[in-house]
Amino acid sequence: MLSIPEKGRPWEELKAELESAKKDDFRWREGRMALYFYYLNEEVKRVQQEAYCAYWTENAMGQRAFPSMKKLESEVLQMGLSLHHAPGDAVATFTSGGSESIFLALKTARDWARETKGITNPNIVIPRTGHPTFDRAAQHLGIRVIRVPTTRNDFRADPAEMAKRITPETIMLLGSAPNYPFGVFDPIEQIAALAQARGLWMHVDACVGGFLAPFVRELGQEIPPFDFAVPGVMSISADLHKYGYAPKGASMMMLRDAALQQYQTFTFNDWERGAYVSNTSQGTRAGGAVAAAWAVMNFLGREGYVHWAKVIMDTVATLTAGINAIPGLAVLEPHELCIFVYRSTDPALDIGAVAEGLTARGWFVGRQAEPPGIHMHLNPVHAETAEMYLADLRDAVEEVRATRATSDTPVERTY
Ligand SMILES: Cc1ncc(COP(=O)(O)O)c(C=O)c1O
Repeated sequence: MLSIPEKGRPWEELKAELESAKKDDFRWREGRMALYFYYLNEEVKRVQQEAYCAYWTENAMGQRAFPSMKKLESEVLQMGLSLHHAPGDAVATFTSGGSESIFLALKTARDWARETKGITNPNIVIPRTGHPTFDRAAQHLGIRVIRVPTTRNDFRADPAEMAKRITPETIMLLGSAPNYPFGVFDPIEQIAALAQARGLWMHVDACVGGFLAPFVRELGQEIPPFDFAVPGVMSISADLHKYGYAPKGASMMMLRDAALQQYQTFTFNDWERGAYVSNTSQGTRAGGAVAAAWAVMNFLGREGYVHWAKVIMDTVATLTAGINAIPGLAVLEPHELCIFVYRSTDPALDIGAVAEGLTARGWFVGRQAEPPGIHMHLNPVHAETAEMYLADLRDAVEEVRATRATSDTPVERTY
């Protein structure tokens, strides 16, 4: 097992080692992967890095000591709230990522249901396409998750099926905006109406769409209502470190009504140091993440977000047209934002082998399990590599056809 070295080494040497340590990593900057990262250009990267470094050691928890942190954080949260049509008494919390935002929404709903309805053995009813982090949070919080199949043809949550699975112990319904596996919006208005009719908490997971969908709507594309404009939506998770283009460690959890925050807040007194109060599941929080989110939002402005939304949607159009033009491949429909899946429609063309061919050509491939396919989660840098990707995809398909006669039949969607 490695121990801390006896003597330190010069930074120049360590810096070189860090740089060379990356040599076998996939080249996200060159758009060689369609997951895990969000990159615009070198100019925005500089804004992210310099803003982060300006607050690299400030603790966002210590807002009495760092009033500037409080101001920056409050401005980020206000911008996020207004983007999501929040009413005047809504509140938001800056978190470390989508998973923490969702954890806090579940924790708040659980304690609300315990206090106001006496539910002690809670469950949540969510579409099967909901992100795995709902199950992780539920495991920590002692909540049972009931996953309900989506509609057969359009991968959207099925409110009628969800209604059938509600029990007297159900506390929350979920809709994603959009979901991660297929990139489609769940029918938020219908799920929220169901939640209202049954007196349930409605959460919208807009981790992917929160900072992209409003700007795609401005481009003229129809985006269904998904935020606080929909009556009954109680909380929303939206990630700044995805399409808000903040560096990692930045998301927000929004509550329709500040009065609900009493079920979120952790307060503690029983130790020698006195009162400890926190609204997140963290203690110390990275000040740099807050400052960088603030800087990127102000650097891009609404115009910048609309511009980059157009770049992404144009790239989706280029890639999906190019993929559909390759015999034996088809993009699953519908898909509505920055995510889509393609699969093989030809029993002689194994999509797994196509994925391997792409990997061999230097692309990091996101694999879809059901139905077997290739998952694409785009960001602006893919505009520069779309044609290169299509050329390599055509090559990979030809290679598979030439070298492998496979009996794998693409699996039809059966759930
Ligand atoms: C729809 C959705 N919700 C939640 C999450 C979890 O977010 P994070 O990875 O920031 O914790 C993701 C991550 O991709 C997501 O796509």
